[in-house]
Amino acid sequence: MIVANWKMNGTRQSVTEWIDSVSGNIDIDNINPCIFCPPACYLEHARKLIEKHNNRIKLGSQIINGTNYDKPLTGGISAKMLKDVGAEYVIIGHSEQRDFLGKINNNFLTEDVEKALSENLKIIFCVGEDFQSKENSETYLCLGEQLDALGQLHSTHENKLRSITVAYEPIWAIGSGLNAEKDYIEETHEFIKKYINDHLGWSQLDIYPAVLYGGSVNLDNCEEIISSTDVDGLLIGGASLNSETFSKIYNLS
Ligand code: PGA
Repeated sequence: MIVANWKMNGTRQSVTEWIDSVSGNIDIDNINPCIFCPPACYLEHARKLIEKHNNRIKLGSQIINGTNYDKPLTGGISAKMLKDVGAEYVIIGHSEQRDFLGKINNNFLTEDVEKALSENLKIIFCVGEDFQSKENSETYLCLGEQLDALGQLHSTHENKLRSITVAYEPIWAIGSGLNAEKDYIEETHEFIKKYINDHLGWSQLDIYPAVLYGGSVNLDNCEEIISSTDVDGLLIGGASLNSETFSKIYNLS
């Protein structure tokens, strides 16, 4: 799975140009899902263009408000709304959202995941350590705590857990131009898979989520990263904005 995370970028015009270009440039024989996550206000526009091109780009949202259904929430976007505008995927727990919203706890994220799954949306669940945790050798502690949000999905039917993909995004690598080294990525991805299998017990359910890497992926490093053991795809921010760069990365993956 290769995901373009546009963050707070773009216009109707640039969304149109990107979809036109990527539709024409990505290799149609590549079976990797290609997910486009524009800002929420462009989802509907993007869906119409994707339908027009009748191609394999899938639509994802960068945001969901899974909580507070019983209370009014000005500016909120629910799972139902995302489904209604044609989103198939949703990114949950991105470090920039965690940071923006202050210390969000796991219960909050678990609820987002549950609401999304209840509308049959597919989840890209982000985890990642900050620089301090890495320096203190607390990366696994930090990742384990974040992954526990998925261990709390009691009300979710087991089969729906198959719709969850995890994205490992070390915070210090996001937008910094400093991607994690191959060895580090491999060790961390191995830990994440093991934690989900053994600690969350998903291997007993025969569920093995894909784990993507994100954080300063670009045209120069994408091949090495995607070929790393236990890396099942990429979540790309800055380098996804340019349609030609993104298409090249997708075709190399
Ligand atoms: P980046 O962002 O590729 O610009 O580092 C990745 C992300 O935040 O998803």
